[in-house]
Amino acid sequence: MWWTNDFLQVEDNELLIAGRRAAAIVERHGTPLYVYGRARILHNYDAIRGLFAEAAPGLEARVSFAAKANSHPRILRLLERRGAWLDAVSPGEVRAALSAGFPAARILYTGTSVSEEDLRAVFGHVGITVNIDALEQVDLMKEVRDRWFPRRRIRVSVRWNPGVGRGFTPRAVTAGARSADGTPIKFGVEDAKVGRAFKRAVRFGFVPVGLHQHLGSGWVGEDFPAVKEAVRRMVAKAAALERGGLRLEFLDFGGGFGPRFYRTQGLFPADEYVRYILRTVDKARLSIRAVAVEPGKALVADAGVLLLRVVYVKETYGNRIACVNAGTFNTLPRPAVYVQAHHEIVNASRLRAPKETRVTVAGHLCETGDVFGKERLLPLPRRGDILAVLNAGGYSRSMASHYNSRPIPKEIIV
Ligand code: LLP
Repeated sequence: MWWTNDFLQVEDNELLIAGRRAAAIVERHGTPLYVYGRARILHNYDAIRGLFAEAAPGLEARVSFAAKANSHPRILRLLERRGAWLDAVSPGEVRAALSAGFPAARILYTGTSVSEEDLRAVFGHVGITVNIDALEQVDLMKEVRDRWFPRRRIRVSVRWNPGVGRGFTPRAVTAGARSADGTPIKFGVEDAKVGRAFKRAVRFGFVPVGLHQHLGSGWVGEDFPAVKEAVRRMVAKAAALERGGLRLEFLDFGGGFGPRFYRTQGLFPADEYVRYILRTVDKARLSIRAVAVEPGKALVADAGVLLLRVVYVKETYGNRIACVNAGTFNTLPRPAVYVQAHHEIVNASRLRAPKETRVTVAGHLCETGDVFGKERLLPLPRRGDILAVLNAGGYSRSMASHYNSRPIPKEIIV
């Protein structure tokens, strides 16, 4: 099975999660249930951190966890203790990070459509860095700072839009002018305005410390050339800003690689990517002291599974449908939200069977699109079987809602 690793294993044709039988876990905790693996999260963090081992002496590497992927307090605490930084996109995520023990100095707040209320809440935390998403945001920042924190020296970076973006769906591309589906991209400061954004921030007494970009989420192998081009642009931009007299502390290369969602997926070469970042930064002889990446999925997605129970298997007009006791929107909305999102589904009770069949795994919501997986080849599920939806550690619980007045399942960490 292509998906086995230190977190998910196979024994006697049954699924083991961190060494425990899925059946035993659900006997104790019931279904639906999210199960996260502590060791797998740490493994993912250490692996990314390790890619920076060859950073030039004096160049710090920051692996900043994108809390939007999974803001479970124990996961935040785990990563904080390992030395991670934190990428927060709302005052709520900032609060969650602080309660988990992250010092404000290790939090970068990257908002979008940032309101007065957001700014007031975020500016209240001494030492936090505020990432500017719009030239127009700087005036609002001045107003809020002058009114509530008149003497505070607030660290700022600029999120620029390098004009090129990549993602697994047009809906997860966060840079460029427009997405492939025509959606105007709202994020970041366009190239021609970056200098002005920094100048205005300095004039207003903010402390400029970084340049940031985020290209999109869910990169696969074929995205590498475009991503490299964006790295090249970012370093060239930082060099130009330096020549103009701006000395920055860090460059943050945001964008989402990994994990493997399906067997034939070409994996994004994260190792080559980091080498390319380090080499390009080195060649440009920048005076920066740190480089950052801000993975969400790559740290937590493959460290989680969602366990569901088959309530019955229904046959209708030639369709075979495994009906399960949960809805996508309340547990794992990605397949319902993005047509391109694929989550592998396995029958944890019988991983292999001599006879496999095409079956659609559907939830209990009043929505046609409430489907976890369409016409998957699986051992024919029986009533009571446990199905495991893989890669449920990121953007699953964090995107879940109470739609149809359904509860959001319990989470356990093993
Ligand atoms: N930093 C920023 C500024 C971001 O906007 C994002 C994701 C990340 C970091 C983390 O990216 P990652 O490493 O997880 O790819 N809900 C979608 C993805 C949208 C992500 C948008 N921004 C999903 O379920 O795939």
